[in-house]
Amino acid sequence: MAAAWLAALAFALAPLLCASEGNGTGIAFGYYNATCPEAETIVFRETARILRASPDLAASLLRLHYHDCFVQGCDASVLLDTTDAANPTEKDGKPNESLRGFDAVARVKDKLETACPATVSCADLLALMARDAVLLSKGPRWAVALGRRDGRSSSAGNCGELPPLYGNMTVMVEVFAGKGMDAKDIAVLSGAHTLGKAHCSSFADRLYSGANATCVTDPALDGRYAARLRLRCPGNNGGNGGAAAEMDAGSCGTFDTSYYRHVASKRGLLQSDAALMEHPVTAAYVRRAATGRYDGHFFSDFAESMAKMGAVGVLTGDQGEIRIKCNRVN
Ligand code: HEM
Repeated sequence: MAAAWLAALAFALAPLLCASEGNGTGIAFGYYNATCPEAETIVFRETARILRASPDLAASLLRLHYHDCFVQGCDASVLLDTTDAANPTEKDGKPNESLRGFDAVARVKDKLETACPATVSCADLLALMARDAVLLSKGPRWAVALGRRDGRSSSAGNCGELPPLYGNMTVMVEVFAGKGMDAKDIAVLSGAHTLGKAHCSSFADRLYSGANATCVTDPALDGRYAARLRLRCPGNNGGNGGAAAEMDAGSCGTFDTSYYRHVASKRGLLQSDAALMEHPVTAAYVRRAATGRYDGHFFSDFAESMAKMGAVGVLTGDQGEIRIKCNRVN
């Protein structure tokens, strides 16, 4: 009788208990409530300080979390320094050459260590700083499930888990599916390109293709926009002293839907942005968001897809460790 009563009670309470779980992956809302109740406040305050001094870093912090999660799961492996030149870490992998924000993460981690030693993981810190960076750029706020642990390994060889720079939609759908995400997630998360810039080397092939790398423009690129980009990135040297272009021209510091207006008008900067118009689901999403009448939907979709991305391949329980310094294992 008592057993039956307990079973009934457990059944009744299950939804409540599960409500604090994030995606059934072992991460949970309020994870640090008992062990470091001020964690989220510290992260928000320090991130706000950092972005006041360097607003461009908002984009970089959001990208760091993405590059962390897609390669070996959200385990902060992207932050580890190479210690053996023969085995470079992700940080030294080609797609991560232009990642920034490592010092900012280290600075916030030091504050967390002072308040709650060896408690908050670097992987959780990346998830929180990405969320706060979006919020501080006038984007949505969402609750972040926490409890990720930090990995003890990192290899540049795994960077191939990121979508390729010039991949088409078939490839992107495959890569995202491998992370448990669908075409809608691709459309929604690409909206992150409302923030930040891309270097000429990331899109020059769209401006100078053809036999002699002359001005044969990608037909998916608006002609006048391409001409402006060529002025910024003269010659297909991919570098031009590190010149870069805003991915959401005119509004690259504000989290909004104008990125989608650019993409819908063939002014998506990267090939992956333009590719969104190749697939019925992503193209429909872009066209709808481009109307500017569904900003609230985009905000809640973005929060939902970020939660999915933030749960990819997480380590929990006694897996991994809580790194004291994010750039090296304990
Ligand atoms: C869909 C596949 C994606 C591809 C192929 C892609 C590719 C790129 C490339 C090439 C850059 C420019 C790098 C440079 O030249 O410096 C970039 C920048 C950026 N990406 Fe993505 N990306 C993708 C998805 C995402 C996702 C899912 C997010 C976040 C949720 C994201 C966030 C960003 C941000 C914020 C920047 C600007 C960084 C800065 O200004 O420092 N991207 N991306």
